[in-house]
This record gives sequence, structure tokens and C-alpha cells, in this order.
Amino acid sequence: MDGKNLTRRAFLAASTGTIAAVASSRVPVYANAGKKAGKLAIKGGKPVRTKKWPAWPQWDESAEEHVISILRSGNWFRGRGSTVTTFEKKYAELLGARRCICTFNGTNALLTAMHVLDIGVGDEVIVSPYTFIATYNVVIGSSALPVFADTDPETLQINPDKIEERITRKTKAIMPVHILGLPANMDKIMAIAKKHNLIVIEDACQAWLAEWRGKKCGTLGDLGCFSFQNSKHLPIGEGGAIVGNDEELMDRVMSYHNCGRPYGSVKRTSSYPIIGTNRRMLEYQAAVGLSQIKRLESDTARRNENAGYLTSRIKDIPGIIPHKLYEGVTRAAYHLYPFRYKKEHFNNAPRDKFLAALRAEGVPCSGGYGPQYRDGLIEEALNSKNFKRSFSKARLDKYRRELNYPGNDQLCREAVWIGQNMLLGSRSDTGDIADAILKVYENRDKLA
Ligand SMILES: Cc1ncc(COP(=O)(O)O)c(C=O)c1O
Repeated sequence: MDGKNLTRRAFLAASTGTIAAVASSRVPVYANAGKKAGKLAIKGGKPVRTKKWPAWPQWDESAEEHVISILRSGNWFRGRGSTVTTFEKKYAELLGARRCICTFNGTNALLTAMHVLDIGVGDEVIVSPYTFIATYNVVIGSSALPVFADTDPETLQINPDKIEERITRKTKAIMPVHILGLPANMDKIMAIAKKHNLIVIEDACQAWLAEWRGKKCGTLGDLGCFSFQNSKHLPIGEGGAIVGNDEELMDRVMSYHNCGRPYGSVKRTSSYPIIGTNRRMLEYQAAVGLSQIKRLESDTARRNENAGYLTSRIKDIPGIIPHKLYEGVTRAAYHLYPFRYKKEHFNNAPRDKFLAALRAEGVPCSGGYGPQYRDGLIEEALNSKNFKRSFSKARLDKYRRELNYPGNDQLCREAVWIGQNMLLGSRSDTGDIADAILKVYENRDKLA
């Protein structure tokens, strides 16, 4: 069946969706002329796409001379070079932040932010349950209790209207995550933080150049943290950064991440005036970062353009619910492009069948995060010596009873993620994603 030739009547008759949903839909059509729904590839039909997707990361050969010159020099640590400092300046400039200090990964950027803001034993931190596990780990690793506020399945972000009910006497901070590179609702989060005198650390590890009302994510709270891991939009393999506008606080970040050595307002009263650790970025890490940073702006623009196009192509397919962006979002980063799958519109086929069918059409995809707060790490933390000493039994029992997040669970059941590299192709490449989804929809009676 060719979607272009699908009449509205035939489409309505074929649809298994609710009357209201179908009635409000427009007839979806194929993005790339000539594509035929045909037989599903998973059933032996011809896939919508066999061409490869853009590779990630992409190496820029012109950076080799710089990287090799650092390697040959033997000056690999930041104390014997200026490359890390140059990269920090460039990244701060790009974000419109006063300062940036790099670490060897994003997890340690977050741990550093927690430490310098004095969040630790006995404190509670409100976080989103829908995030990469590192967000949970840094709170637990700082001996603080990660208190989850439910997820808004429509935006995939922490639901700001669920935050205040989680605040207790011990709440010290909120850690919003701009998950998948889509900004969290920073107006509401900052207003709640102000009202309750809470610190805000933005986990912007997936949100390079994303913006809330024209300001870059990571620069809105007290500190913002980024990851430059292999899959990220500014990939170094491993790498991280902390950005902030408070000079004294950033001096502390610099000092703490460098063994507690004096820096700026952390005065040279002794060799080691404050507690420290070693989380320094390497010179050749920064050299790779300097080469990758060049493409970040144009890649971000392309991802946004293709994401908008993809939404326009799939929004009328029954059972496919594109993500929503809050009104305050002026730019998203699209580390992943998410939508939700409603199986009742797909002949009740479980999401796994839909994912397998889409992959067979040449569109890699995944179901994303599961309800990780039910994984072993939370129970291990609650049973640890640290937690038993810092929180009452009554508090931990209540915490266990509250480990129930229906919005998050719904999203974990329904989400479908498309990788960021797939938004770096042409409009026609993006059209293939839409066409594959439409083809699976049209063959939904063969899915279950
Ligand atoms: C939301 C989020 N937070 C934290 C991290 C940790 O960053 P890294 O892997 O660089 O340690 C990541 C990385 O994937 C992330 O996606």
C-alpha cells in the first residue's frame, strides 16, 4: 500500500485507534516519494533503508598535527601545557559562562560540583528518575539521598509540579537533568529553588548548546556539568566540564579538582589549604576537544532542523506521540530524538515488536531507560552504613514506600529513542525514519 495513495476513507477504515484520536489525525504520507509500504522487512520484505547512517564520532584529520605534537612533547598533564585552559576558555565563551573547568569525565564533574557546594552526608537531593545512571550514582556517591520527583512523560523531564511534595527539612539541592538534550522547565525549577533556598546543579551532560529562554543550559543554576564521553556531541572519549559564574566558587572547583592546591581566592596559606582530589583533564584530551568543538554549532543546527522535520512527518501517525518541548525552550540539543509508542494503535503489539520491525527497516532505535530506581543500587545505598547513620529508619522506610513513579514508568514502557547521529544526515535521510515508522504502522496487523 502506498501511503501517498491511501485515501482518507481507507486510512480511517484501517485504523485501530480510538475514534477521537483518528478523527483528529491528518492522513500521514510518505516523506520520500516512491517509498512503498510493502511487506515488513522483518517478514522478509525490502527495508525502507539500507544506506548507512552518519558515523559517530567523526574524526577531523586536520587535528592530528596538534594532538601528535602534544604526545611527542611529553607534556601531557595540564600543569605542563595550555591546551586544557584554551579549551576551557572556548567552551565557557560558547556557553556565555564566566568560567569553565574541565574534568576527566562528566560523572566527576558532577561529584566535584556536589563537593564544592557542600552537599553530602545526611542531605537530600531532588533528581529526575529518568536519566543516565550516573546522576543517581553521584548523589549516592556523595552520601546524599537521591529523592526522585516523577517524570512528565510528555516532555521526558522532571515534572516540576511534583518537586515541592518531595522537599523535606533535609533537602539541600535540586539536580535537574536536561535529559536527551531537551531542556527541563528551568523557570519553575529555579522558582522552587529560590522559595525553599535550595542549590541547583544542572546535569547538562546531554545538553551542549541547548537553551532555555536564550540562555545556555548549564548556566542557569549554581553550577552546570557536562560530559564529553564518546557518544556525546562534543566527543573526546572521556571528558567533562563544570561551568559557573561565581568566581570564588569556580576557584574552589579549580583548587579541589587539583589536589586542593591554592588557586585565586583559595589563598596560598599553605601548600594544600583545602581538601582536594585529582580530576584533571589531560592535554591531549583537550586537543581532541578543541577539534570537535568546531563542529558543535553547525551540528546542533542540523539536528534541530531534522528533528523539527521528523516531528512534522510523524505527528499524525496514530499511536506515535512526539515529545513536547516546554514553551521556554529556545533550542534543544537532541542527544536523542524521542517519541512515545501507543500499542493500542498498533494492534496491541508490544513495543519490542515495534522496535524490532523498525530496526529491520534500517532504522536503529531503542526503548531507552528502564525504571532504574527499582534496580539494586538504591537498596544497596539504603542498607549502607553511611545511609543508616545519616537518615532515620522512619525516613528510609518512607523513602522506600514512595519509590513509585507512575509517570516515569509509563515513559519507560512507551519511549522510543532515535540516535543523534541519525539527525545529522539530509532531509531525505530523516524522511527515511518517518517512512519506516509509517510503514510499520500500515503493517501493524502483521506485528503481534
Ligand atoms: C545525564 C548524564 N549524566 C551524567 C553522565 C556522566 O558523564 P560521563 O559518562 O562523562 O561520566 C552522563 C553520561 O552519559 C549523562 O548522560
